[in-house]
Amino acid sequence: MTDTIQHLIGLFPQRAVSKYLRSLVGRMTVLGRERESRKLLVYFGRLLHQQFFISATDGNLSVRLDDRILATPTGMSKGMMLPKDLVIVDLGGARIKGRREVSSEIDMHLLIYKMRPDVRAVVHAHPYTATGFASAGIALDEPLCSEVVMTLGEVPLAPYATTGTTELSRSLAPFVFKHNAILMANHGVVSYGETLLQAYQRMEAVEHFARIVLVTHQLGKKNLLSDTEIEKLLMAKDRYFNHWRKAPLRAPA
Ligand code: 13P
Repeated sequence: MTDTIQHLIGLFPQRAVSKYLRSLVGRMTVLGRERESRKLLVYFGRLLHQQFFISATDGNLSVRLDDRILATPTGMSKGMMLPKDLVIVDLGGARIKGRREVSSEIDMHLLIYKMRPDVRAVVHAHPYTATGFASAGIALDEPLCSEVVMTLGEVPLAPYATTGTTELSRSLAPFVFKHNAILMANHGVVSYGETLLQAYQRMEAVEHFARIVLVTHQLGKKNLLSDTEIEKLLMAKDRYFNHWRKAPLRAPA
C-alpha cells in the first residue's frame, strides 16, 4: 500500500505534491479549529443558561474564524444547542454554512469584529442584576472594587435601541473601542474578548459587579477609590495581563 502511494506521489512533480499536502494540512487545521469553536460555543451557551444569564431563547454568542464568523442561531435556547445548530456567516452577515437562520443580532457582533481586530469572541446575555441596572438607566462605571478596575474597567450604558436593528449597532458604536463590556439600555449586556472564555468571564464579572453595586445601594453608602489608587491599579493591570497572556486559561472541552 505504502509502495503504491509512493509510486503515485512519484508521478507528480515534488513541488506540486508538497503544495497539495500543505493546502490539505491547512484545510484540516481550519476544520479542526471550527470543530473546537463549535464545541466551545455549545459549552458557553449552556453555562450562560445555568448561571441564569439567559432564559428561554435569550442571548447570542459568536467566534471569529479567520474572515468568517461562527454564531448561534436565532430563536433557539442557547443552553440546548448542538454543534450542528451553529451558523457560519461572512463579515457582511451572509450565511455560508448551516441550516438555521443566524442570530437576529448578528449586526452587533459584526460591528464589534470590524471595530476591534483584537476581538475573537462576542457574548450577549440578559443577566438579571446587570440588566436591572441597564433598565434603570444606571451605568456600572464607578471605581468601587479594585479587581473590577483592574480587569474589567468601566461598563458604560448605551442608549436604548430596538433589538435586531441597525440602530442597536449604532447605539453601541461609540463605546466599542474603549470598553470590553457594555450595558444596553432596557435590554442586556454585551461583552467581548480575545477568546470566548475571556468574553464569557467579562459577562460574569459584569453581573458580579452589578450585585456588589446593588448592595452598596442597599447599604446607602459607597467609598470610591481615589485617582491615585486607580492609577496604581492600572499599572498592576499591565503586570496581571502579561501573566494572563503567558498562561491563558483553557476552557473545559
Ligand atoms: P437571537 O435568538 O436572534 O440571537 O436573539 C436573542 C436575543 O437575545 C434578542 O435580544
